[in-house]
Amino acid sequence: MKIGVLGSGIMGNGIAQVFAMSGYNVVLTDLKKEALHQARIDMEQSLTKISKKKENNIKPSDVLQSVVFTTDKEQLADSDIVIEAIIENMKAKTSVFRELDEICDSKTILASNTSSLAITEIAAATNRPEKVCGIHFFNPVPLMKLVEIISAEQTSNEIVDRISKVIESVNKESIQVKDTPLFVVNRILVPMICEAIFVFEEGIATADDIDKGMKLGAGHPMGPLKLADIIGLDTLLYVQKMLFQETGDSKYRVPKLLKKMVRAGNFGQKTGKGFYDYP
Ligand code: 3HC
Repeated sequence: MKIGVLGSGIMGNGIAQVFAMSGYNVVLTDLKKEALHQARIDMEQSLTKISKKKENNIKPSDVLQSVVFTTDKEQLADSDIVIEAIIENMKAKTSVFRELDEICDSKTILASNTSSLAITEIAAATNRPEKVCGIHFFNPVPLMKLVEIISAEQTSNEIVDRISKVIESVNKESIQVKDTPLFVVNRILVPMICEAIFVFEEGIATADDIDKGMKLGAGHPMGPLKLADIIGLDTLLYVQKMLFQETGDSKYRVPKLLKKMVRAGNFGQKTGKGFYDYP
């Protein structure tokens, strides 16, 4: 079975890696050669970490050999599934889905890894809306067990069943979700992180203590402010805004501090500064 992945950023790269680790042939495409070069380096580093664990029987060089890194989208043509992981922008997504619809075989399932955009609108841009769905992975993709499978209004049940089996085959668990703003996990997680930002903004506790509170008091693997820095404050702002816009519910208002930090260019780990410093 052949899997195509479009977009070699942190999510696309992780998705490609997970399929390759389970023996699939993978084509990873991006517009930029440099992005693909970086993706290969990141994948190798991740695979090396994973291969050092006793319970894994992974040989990084073998896994890398099953991934084609290319700027040529035509190589996605005979994929069984193509998963899109480009920027979170509806115009960009619909344009790419139109293109994939033309390039790919009629059997190909087209999926989006979007965390915030309507799959129904993306599906409507193609001539095969019943074969379009959301397959939403979580960061860091090689470690997080869950995948959300999102049905657009048009997605057929058969496609959802097939995708569930494929997800099982890469050792992940899935949940089935209707096409609604932010789906299930982010709908709960993102407002929770924003609440932590309100708590910090109101001077109720330090960032360290807020994170310690949620780790030790609620059993979270990592505190919400640290997680905000990892997700990226720009991404977080975008998705919370989307939730607010789509629902019109004031409980999803955006913390002023989050806006200020993003305006200042402090996006978290990727820019070296967020709620914590990353020298
Ligand atoms: N690939 C391979 N191995 C990796 C890795 C990667 N990308 N990242 C970390 N590791 C390894 C580390 O090297 C470490 O290995 P070791 O045990 O041999 O030292 C091991 O994984 C554990 O890492 P850490 O010790 O650094 O940290 P943790 O024990 O806290 O585990 C974590 C890391 C799994 C990320 C955990 O902290 C966690 O679950 N955090 C919450 C993540 C989360 O909530 N993600 C969802 C974000 S929202 C999202 O993605 C949606 C999107 O749409 C916005």
